[in-house]
Amino acid sequence: MTLERLSHRTVELDALGDVRLEEVLGEGGRSVVYRGDWQGRPVAVKVFKRHGVEKHARKRDDPIARFEYERNLAFFQAPGLAGFVAEPLGFSAGPELQALIQEFLDGELYYFYHARRGGDIPPALFQGVEKMVRLAHAASLFDLDLHAMNVMVVEENGEAVPKLFDFNLVPWSERRSNPWVWLMIKAGIRKPGRRDRRMLRDFHDFSKRVPILLRYFDSEGHPRGHPRSPA
Ligand SMILES: Nc1ncnc2c1ncn2[C@@H]1O[C@H](COP(=O)(O)OP(=O)(O)OP(=O)(O)O)[C@@H](O)[C@H]1O
Ligand SMILES: [Mg+2]
Repeated sequence: MTLERLSHRTVELDALGDVRLEEVLGEGGRSVVYRGDWQGRPVAVKVFKRHGVEKHARKRDDPIARFEYERNLAFFQAPGLAGFVAEPLGFSAGPELQALIQEFLDGELYYFYHARRGGDIPPALFQGVEKMVRLAHAASLFDLDLHAMNVMVVEENGEAVPKLFDFNLVPWSERRSNPWVWLMIKAGIRKPGRRDRRMLRDFHDFSKRVPILLRYFDSEGHPRGHPRSPA
């Protein structure tokens, strides 16, 4: 079954039971994310594309859905970070379908939030992103894949709060597929937080990571080519 056809269907996710998939919330290189109804609560269901599953399998033995769930959980449980991270609720790594169930974030992608305001955003918002990195590093969590299409801006008590929701990047320190970086990190020559600091520095330079992901959204930030609600 194609990923598009999963909209408005109920799928059985092994251990997790039935999930009713509603409209597409967004799409990335490795997954399509649906709004779902699970055990009576609204959730986000991230269904991995075959290409994403295979790409991950070339780097690690564990299935991508388990990897992302465990990494998401490590961030969510790190001291001080729960408020900046989507809560992971469960994963399914069946042979047909790999999926992650996550807290539904009712917000706007940082990129579109920033664009809609012509860059005039509350200073506390980006300070929150910086704090997220500080707290992650304090918990020895590195390589956050930190860019403006991986952070949702959610209004909480009248304040705009950044929330990270994408965790499927295998950290450089674990990626033997690039032996030089891996060796340098293991030998202590290269600091493991270097990439995150660079991503933070370049966070508002939208010319690098953002353009290839924009193809999945229209100019207002709605997912392209997928219905927002049942026709
Ligand atoms: N928990 C969530 N709540 C609401 N929307 C979400 C949630 N998780 C993801 N999305 C939407 O789905 C899109 C794709 O999600 P995500 O970036 O996790 O996918 P990906 O395939 O891992 O991306 P990448 O190409 O960065 O690997 C997001 O840009 C966002 O619009
Ligand atoms: Mg992403």
